[in-house]
Amino acid sequence: MLQRNTSSHLYGFTDLKSLNERGPLVISYGKGIYVYDTKGNKYLDGNSGLWNQCAGFDHPGLIEVAKKQYEKFAGYHSLFGRLSEETLQLSEKIIEVSPFDQGRVFFCNSGSEANDTMVKMLWMLNARIGKPNTRKIITRINGYHGVTLGASSMTAKPYNKEFGLPSEEFIHIECPHYWKYGLENETEEEFSLRMAKNLEEKIIKEDPETIAGFVAEPVQGAGGCIPPSKSYFDLVQPILKKYNIPFIADEVICGFGRTGNLWGCETYSIKPDIIISSKCLTAGYFPMGAVIVNKEFSDKFVEVSEEAEEFPHGFTAGGHPVGCAIALKAIDVIMNEGLLENVKLMEPYFLERLNEFNDYEHIGETRGIGLMAALEMVKNKDTKEPFEGHLNMGDKVANLSIDNGLICRPLGPAIVLCPQFIITKNQIDEIFDSLHKTIKQVFN
Ligand SMILES: Cc1ncc(COP(=O)(O)O)c(C=O)c1O
Repeated sequence: MLQRNTSSHLYGFTDLKSLNERGPLVISYGKGIYVYDTKGNKYLDGNSGLWNQCAGFDHPGLIEVAKKQYEKFAGYHSLFGRLSEETLQLSEKIIEVSPFDQGRVFFCNSGSEANDTMVKMLWMLNARIGKPNTRKIITRINGYHGVTLGASSMTAKPYNKEFGLPSEEFIHIECPHYWKYGLENETEEEFSLRMAKNLEEKIIKEDPETIAGFVAEPVQGAGGCIPPSKSYFDLVQPILKKYNIPFIADEVICGFGRTGNLWGCETYSIKPDIIISSKCLTAGYFPMGAVIVNKEFSDKFVEVSEEAEEFPHGFTAGGHPVGCAIALKAIDVIMNEGLLENVKLMEPYFLERLNEFNDYEHIGETRGIGLMAALEMVKNKDTKEPFEGHLNMGDKVANLSIDNGLICRPLGPAIVLCPQFIITKNQIDEIFDSLHKTIKQVFN
């Protein structure tokens, strides 16, 4: 048996009390939607790695493309006007499959970097067109946009207080989660109207001239898998238009199929100006982020960059040829090997089995779309009172679930499931049968 000293690794986003008690789960390899630890135990990974491994952990085509590209051209940057042919091909492909007729793509290594890049683009553009005060970025409570400095300020979660963030140009507005924040006797439509009205009031209060962009995930992912309330985006978009505020869709989780369409924007009829992409863009086989801008924005941005001589920004490994070759293949796999269709096909059964959990005394809400879902635990179902934080109910369920062979993720009081796009009906049964067992064990 392999014994490892794991004290050399610093753990991010990990409940350290649980870790100290249980030790880490050290994974050796993956097959299909399963991973195997170093002791040979098998787990169904109900979280697709981290929402990103959507095509299986061992897709032969993706592995082959990576091998071939390493042999052909193993690495290059995309700065100073030099870039690999795969980088160029991928930018063309992304625009082709994006909601934009024309536009441009900037490559980074992660979703966080893509968000920071987007903020710098907005700031540079506005400063150059004589609007140096148009810098504020609006995001929503429970929105998750990453961990670099700008992205942390955009991520509206309390833990960023640890870093003295958000910085002052980042504004957090309400989260459109009707079940949690709806008022007594307020319908979902009335709730959405209130959210939109409050957004407009906030814009006016801050001064519309100071707002550089509104950034939203079509479905809030790492904030607890929260689909927007009914008509929310239909009501919000005209307000943004009215004040000329760009809509930036953070599609890091939703993009490339998670909600059952290629883009979350399609699912919610969002017309974005800029899209942030990552995760399934490479099916999790390479670190990559992308800022995708529409033609109107890119024309203006190229013009000001020319004026400034350059866009003084870029990452050494951005547009890496191996990553780009993998992404080209991943897009092909998702669109042409039936993965996107499978998300749509499996969605009704996935949600049907999820809904069974509404019968539990301590499950307050089940919610989901496509292949992303959450179960939110409550102490009291009538009042929606949550369990006390120190009880760590999410971690209890997630830890026991691992013991029962299913990896799922605690996000505050919610348990999140986001299986791979290749999942079968039997594997959906496996997930929910296992979760029933775990929930019963925890609450009995
Ligand atoms: C919506 C969203 N945006 C941005 C990010 C940050 O991406 P990364 O972890 O690649 O920096 C994430 C990560 O989960 C995300 O879910």
